[in-house]
Amino acid sequence: MNDPNGLWYDAKEELYHMYFQYNPEDNIWGSPLYWGHAVSDDLTTWEERGIALGPKTNDSAAFSGSAVVDVDNTSGFFNDTTDPRQRVVAIWTHNAPDKQSQYVSYSVDGGDTFIEYENNPVLDLNSTQFRDPKVIWHEETKKWIMIVAMSQKYEIAIYSSDDLVDWTYESAFGNAGYLGFQYECPGLVKVPVVQTEQGGLTVSNLTYPNTTSYNSTYFNATNTSTVNNEAWVMFLSIYPGGPLGGSATQYFIGDFNGTHFEPFTTQARFLDLGKDYYAVQTFYNSPNADEVLGIAWASNWQYAQNVPTYEWRSSMSLARNFTLREYSPNPESVQLNLNSEPVLNANPVEAQNATFSFEDELLLIDNELSGNFPSNISATAIEFEIEWSVNEIAFNITELNGFVLSLATDDYDEFLTFGYEANAQSFFFNRGNTEEPFVYANPFFNEKLSVYLEPYSTSSNGTNTYKVHGIVDQNIAELYFNDGSVVSTNLFFTTPGNQLTWWSVDTSIDGGFKLDNFTISVLDV
Ligand code: FRU
Repeated sequence: MNDPNGLWYDAKEELYHMYFQYNPEDNIWGSPLYWGHAVSDDLTTWEERGIALGPKTNDSAAFSGSAVVDVDNTSGFFNDTTDPRQRVVAIWTHNAPDKQSQYVSYSVDGGDTFIEYENNPVLDLNSTQFRDPKVIWHEETKKWIMIVAMSQKYEIAIYSSDDLVDWTYESAFGNAGYLGFQYECPGLVKVPVVQTEQGGLTVSNLTYPNTTSYNSTYFNATNTSTVNNEAWVMFLSIYPGGPLGGSATQYFIGDFNGTHFEPFTTQARFLDLGKDYYAVQTFYNSPNADEVLGIAWASNWQYAQNVPTYEWRSSMSLARNFTLREYSPNPESVQLNLNSEPVLNANPVEAQNATFSFEDELLLIDNELSGNFPSNISATAIEFEIEWSVNEIAFNITELNGFVLSLATDDYDEFLTFGYEANAQSFFFNRGNTEEPFVYANPFFNEKLSVYLEPYSTSSNGTNTYKVHGIVDQNIAELYFNDGSVVSTNLFFTTPGNQLTWWSVDTSIDGGFKLDNFTISVLDV
């Protein structure tokens, strides 16, 4: 499987629907390709259902696309027998050998199966590089808006419609950000701007940079705390040619007036700084108005076809809640940033030694912290939160000054390490210490990854504090830094059946780090 498709929330059944690119005949990508289907009531545990839609011929494919709920029956596809909350319409790319065109299908059974609109395609440019429509409802103009990639022109075409079948070209956004080989899987969504104080950094007194050169209401505002409560975010996936190699997902923050998207800045920004977070899509709706939930494919085309899982291949990220927040990357700037928080509905296992907690723990070289999760439970996910402070005075700049969290298998032969190194001001993840041959044989499966971190807060005595929330599932480690202002998602592979059951924290420098708060738990999922 690959990209998430058609994410929508069924308000009648209170159920989230996820479709996904799916090849039922093989565990590598290939035609005919279908939309698989899964449902969840909490976004954490998913139940797989049957194939929802597919192509008519064996040499074609149902490529990526989206879904909307046509409550008012603007399409005319529905009658009173379909509850308005379940009038789901899928808009997807039909990939044939000679071209990619946009198709529409609708469901009258709550999203399990789809009926093809009889006059498909609804958009056909005779192009082989025209795909991945994401449709949204634009309340201000009362129109449906489709954004779709003209992949190799580096353009995102924007169309509008009253009825989901007749589409009018409005504009294109493009030649922006990081290009790579081509654009894929665009997204456009209105995201709330949440005012927070980032730790001890008071951001509200600062002004946004360069207010005059961008034709944007946001930057023309003088009172930063009362600027728009929301802004538009354009997502854009690129492959091949992402900066870490392979696939990458970037985003732009800006304004959308119903016909044109205008970014506030020229910045290239990546949604997740790890290697395995691609083709993100947001849910068409959600139980809470203004909440923006999204899911990405947790893999990378650079090695997705080779990863060592055999009955199945690939999985999704956790769902994330996206908000826009101000943050200070350095003392002289404030930026808007897309913040990601995991949606995880799971509690620690109820057993002794299922959770370990520490507070104000000064790390010392000869005092390793460690623990074993109970051996009689099958640890399928581990969660940790670390808030640490750094005492810069203790450092020697010619040596590595760090602390390391290790998660190891029962026999200690395989382990993952996570940690912070103060001279580089960076957090690392090492997925290379396993006995799985793929990990060292595949040249693109970077074993060591890192992210640069700005402090979460700085106290008056100069102490910097940082935070990480880690969720380590079967073979995915998701790291959310500083309440989600930076995220890194990466796959890892240990020998099948070899569970991570032991953890330790140690340091290379006496008294350089204090764990203000540290909790690690094995989760009941
Ligand atoms: C992105 C992508 C999309 C396409 C789909 C095909 O991963 O290449 O552009 O629609 O996958 O499976």
